[in-house]
Amino acid sequence: MIKKILSTTAVAMLVCGLNLNGAEEVDTSKLPAPSDKKVDFVKDIKPLFEKSCFNCHGVKPRAKGKYFMNNREKAIAGGSSDEKAIIAGKSAKSPLVHMVTDLVEEMEMPPIDKREKYKALTKKQIGLVRAWIDQGAKWPAGVELQKAAQ
Ligand code: HEC
Repeated sequence: MIKKILSTTAVAMLVCGLNLNGAEEVDTSKLPAPSDKKVDFVKDIKPLFEKSCFNCHGVKPRAKGKYFMNNREKAIAGGSSDEKAIIAGKSAKSPLVHMVTDLVEEMEMPPIDKREKYKALTKKQIGLVRAWIDQGAKWPAGVELQKAAQ
């Protein structure tokens, strides 16, 4: 009986897409394809982050939680989870990409109920973010995100 319950639990965990490390598996086939262009952080990515993310992930006192995207180091490191938010070179494995594609329940970014103010990234924009990460998440030293003009 116990054996049966255990194996049922294991099957249920597999079905729910959980693995034993506790990290959530996401269906990466749902990710928009990375752009094939050579991405320039300052021109292509910074404005997106400033508009859709930075008010909550950088500017105090509005900043919520512990994830700060001010510079490369912080943006990569992640916040309250112990996971890195960005894995340079691996956009399909980067939690930030999963979150902006709404593949992580309760962690859709920007949060779904705030999208009147903070627009969701388009597929094209997510493709750019993916290409940026795949190309090494280059972020020139000394460049910090700024509060976007509202
Ligand atoms: C309205 C506020 C708000 C906006 C806008 C927003 N977020 Fe978040 N975000 C949160 C909150 C709250 C959390 C959970 C607490 C935390 O970890 O900071 C969170 C968590 C995250 C995390 C997980 C960090 C970790 O390691 O725990 C990532 C990655 C993230 N956001 C990325 C983004 C990106 C990228 C954008 C823009 C496309 C964005 N967020 C826009 C409020 C926001």
